[in-house]
Order: sequence, then C-alpha cells, then structure tokens
Amino acid sequence: MAKIKKIALLTSGGDSPGMNAAVRAVVRKAIHMDLKVVGVLRGYEGLIKGDFIPMNSKSVGNIIQLGGTILRTARSEKFRTVEGRQEAYEKLIENEIDALIVIGGDGTFKGARIFIEEHNFPIVGVPGTIDNDLYGTDMTIGYDTALNTVVEAVDKIRDTAASHERIFFIEVMGRDAGFIALRAGIASGAEAVLVPEIPTDLKALHQQLVNYMSKKKTSSIILVAEGDDAGGAFQIKEAMEKFGGEFDMKVTVLGHIQRGGTPSAYDRYLASRLGIASVEALLDDQRSIMVGMINREIVHIPFNQTIKHHKTIDQTMLDIVDVLNS
Ligand code: F6P
Repeated sequence: MAKIKKIALLTSGGDSPGMNAAVRAVVRKAIHMDLKVVGVLRGYEGLIKGDFIPMNSKSVGNIIQLGGTILRTARSEKFRTVEGRQEAYEKLIENEIDALIVIGGDGTFKGARIFIEEHNFPIVGVPGTIDNDLYGTDMTIGYDTALNTVVEAVDKIRDTAASHERIFFIEVMGRDAGFIALRAGIASGAEAVLVPEIPTDLKALHQQLVNYMSKKKTSSIILVAEGDDAGGAFQIKEAMEKFGGEFDMKVTVLGHIQRGGTPSAYDRYLASRLGIASVEALLDDQRSIMVGMINREIVHIPFNQTIKHHKTIDQTMLDIVDVLNS
C-alpha cells in the first residue's frame, strides 16, 4: 500500500460527548507521526462538498472538555447514493488525501464499508455514539457521559416521585438498543427497565406495579428505551391506565440532553486511547476496521463484523433489576 502522508477526519451521525477528545487525539497523534491532517465539516455531507479545513495542534487546543463536535455532524442522505460517494471520492483525491478516519456509530460504519468496497480507500472507524450498541468494543465514546446524565436526571425525578407517591415512566434514548436504559436503570435503582431487545408484556408490567405499589413501594421509576416494542413512555403509561388502578402516573422524556454536556473522565480517556489507536491502525496498513477497547486492550474489528453482529443485551443485567427490587 502507498505510504500515507495526509489523512482526513470526520464525525458523523448523532454526536456524543467525547467526540472532541477523539478529534484532538487523532490530530495530535497524526502530527506526532509527521502526517498532515484535514478536518471534514458535517460528516459525509462535508466530504461530498469538499468542506475541508487544515488542522494543526492548535486547532484542537482546549476542546478535550467540550461536548458536541467541533467538526459538526450530519446524517447524509446523499452519501447513501453511488453518485454521492463518487463525488466524495473525487474530493478526497483532489485534496491528495490518502486515508480517512470516521468517528461515529453503526450508520457511519455502514457508509464507510460500502465506500471502501467501491473505491478501495483506507478507512478506520472510531466508535462514537451514546447508544453503546456497537459490536467489538466494551464501551463506545459518549455512553458513560450519557449514563451519568440519565442517572442525575432520574435522581431528581425520584425526589418528586417519592414526595407525591407517583409512578414515573422516564424515556431514554436508544432506538434499537436498550443499553442506556439498562445500565442507567441499575445505577439509579429503577423499579423496571423496558428495552427494545426483549418484548414487553404490558399486563405483567401492570401486575408488577400493582404488587410494588400495594406492598412495598410508594413510588416507582420505570426506565423505557425509546425503541421499546410497546411504544414510548407515553404509550406505556396509557396502556397502564387502561388496565385500571389508582396510580398517579407521569411521563418524562429526557431527549437530547443525553447527547450533550461535558464528557466524563472515562469518555475522555477512551476517546484519547481510541483516537491514537486509529492513526496507528492506518499506519499499520489497516483499511476497513473499527478500533475498539475490550478488557482494556485495543482491538481491531473489521467493519463487516461491527455492522453484521449486534451487541446483545445481557439477561443477567435485567435479572439484576428484579433482584434489586425484591
Ligand atoms: O444514535 C444516537 C441517537 O442518540 C439515538 O439514541 C437516537 O434514537 C437518535 O440518535 C436520535 O437522532 P436525531 O438526533 O437525529 O433525532
């Protein structure tokens, strides 16, 4: 493979806290290795338009602590087309870019894989999503911060839930994955957690609430992942009302506060390690992989695998929620 002299870097899909720390690590490591780096604005959309900015050590100064992404992000419809990807390829070649680092989630890596197939262009991925739904890494960048945001919000809601003796259905992000709901549920002492991966039995949930509220609890918190098969938190509350009972029930949708905020120490650490590892991987002739961290070791996972396999929900974690409420 030709020697890599110049790389481009982009963030794509939903932003996540820690993406800036990853951008900083990629840029500084690249400079350390005598590579030129350009940032691409607004993900694949910017790649198609040729929105490139030269980056140096100073351009990533003072960003490790910032949420969001200084490179901006987008979900590009045009990159889903052959023509869009062809335009993006031409922009890379015009700008003499030899390789690309993409920071994002599942959709970002699907785009990368098809681009590599079509244009044989080296790409390494860095897992950045609050959802933690990528196969091949224990944690994705942003998951830890999002968990802390959710737990802090649930703690506050619990205060008022307890005072008013209410049941709260709190909806968290996760269109296809329940990792935020599950881990935040355990960490905040939720009475039940509903995830997309496991069908929700509404009648059983109602019975569970009746048992809790009549025997041992005066308030309850139910964490609902937005992609749960029974619907979002509002639908589930409605279903509970139809079953009857005298409960005072409320809904809170946490929404995009989960995607923002100062990244946690762990997310900054993970982003720094993975950012460095992504440049090393490119220099090591890797061209179609995601870097991840498993058991504190850096790993290389082919895009094919991260996309095909899905990280699975651990049933023992759901059992823990029940045990802690027994
Ligand atoms: O993929 C990350 C994520 O935050 C999901 O949890 C959520 O369903 C989705 O993005 C929301 O995306 P958008 O901000 O584009 O509506």
